[in-house]
Order: sequence, then C-alpha cells, then structure tokens
Amino acid sequence: TGRCVVAVDGPSGSGKSTVSRRLADALGARYLDTGAMYRAVTWAVLRSGVDLDNAESVTKVAGEVDLKIGVDPAAPSVTADGIAVDRDIRGPEVTAAVSAVSAVPAVREILVALQRQIIEAAGRIVVEGRDIGSVVAPDADLKVYLTASAEARAQRRSTENAADLAATAADLARRDRLDSTRAADPLRQAPDAVVLDTTELGIDEVVSRLRELLTGRR
Ligand code: C5P
Repeated sequence: TGRCVVAVDGPSGSGKSTVSRRLADALGARYLDTGAMYRAVTWAVLRSGVDLDNAESVTKVAGEVDLKIGVDPAAPSVTADGIAVDRDIRGPEVTAAVSAVSAVPAVREILVALQRQIIEAAGRIVVEGRDIGSVVAPDADLKVYLTASAEARAQRRSTENAADLAATAADLARRDRLDSTRAADPLRQAPDAVVLDTTELGIDEVVSRLRELLTGRR
C-alpha cells in the first residue's frame, strides 16, 4: 500500500464523483473533489459581495478564505471559514458562478497548490476534476478521462438534483463550453489518459475496469 494517485477528469455528469468515491473506497484510498474546492471559493466570493468580473477581488477572496477539505470517500466534506458549505455549494447560485471564478488563473494557482499539498499528504488518493491529469498531478499512476453523451449527462444531473431536464441540459452545455474554452487549464484529456465512455457502462463496470488497469500497472 504505497503511494498511488489516480486522476479522474471529465465534464459534469460523466460519473466522475460516483466512480471516484467508489474507486477510492475499494482501494482504501482518500478522495479529493477539486470541483468542491472551486465551488467553495465561489461561495465565499458570492458571500463577500465582490464583483465576479473583478479578477483581483475574486483572487483576494480565494487567498483569504480558510478551506478545510475532508478526504474520506464515505463522507467528503468542505468548510469555508468554519462554515459547512456542502449543501450550499451545490445550489444554483454557486453553480451559475463557478465557471467564471475557476477561469481566473490566480485562483487556479492557489487551489492547485492546495490540491498538491492534500495529494502529497494523503499518498493514496483518487482526485477528480477537470485538469488533474494535465496540470495538478501529471505524474499520476493512472489517468482516467470519463465521458458520456450530453443526453445521458443531463439526465443524470437532473435526476440527482430533481431539476428540470431542459434547464439542466442548458446549464451543462454552458459550463462545458466555458470550462473547455477558458485560457487557464481548460478541461482537457491528457494524452496518456484512459478514456471511458459511461453512457452505456454501469458504475460497477467502470470501477472494476479501473481496478484492473491499476493492478496491471503495478
Ligand atoms: O465537478 P464540478 O461540476 O463540481 O465542478 C464545478 C466547476 O469547477 C466546473 O464547472 C469547473 O468550472 C470548475 N473546476 C475546474 N477545475 C477542476 C474542477 C472543477 O475548473 N479541477
């Protein structure tokens, strides 16, 4: 049980969170949801009332907020300035603003540094996000890129959030576009990532496929 870092990237609704948590659990590893970190900073930005378009003010909030990230795959948690924000960061206000906040390069620098510290301290960890295999942990033991059809992703998210399907599909399309076209560390498939399309594959199949890949590699 030495060091083992698994990077899981992909767009929203591709199954990253479920797959990453299950895999971490199966490996007896920790789990880091980097999207929750961008969401928690966004929560702090909204709370502070600074202008979302003011990169300098947004960066200041990102640098000052005290984030605590729990990395237990059975109960991941996030606090910002001592407040449990697990529920609020999934709400529509944060979801609408997070792509703008995560596009600020200086915000990314702050969070990537924190993510690397958490990974280093954990040793064995499954990390999910958009830029994990490409930027945060380019030396990961396994890099996975999960995809699924736009329809399947919207369907999953709207079921999860009990939200309208058409509105969810529009929101996903908007975030995918912003996340993959931004200048700083866009959503990108690392050249050495294993690509899995989860449109037809069940969670169990994906997790066991990844476990096989890990065994093959060690
Ligand atoms: O994964 P989740 O949908 O919670 O991520 C929320 C947002 O955080 C994404 O839409 C993206 O803008 C940003 N993000 C990012 N880099 C990551 C993880 C998330 O830019 N590694």
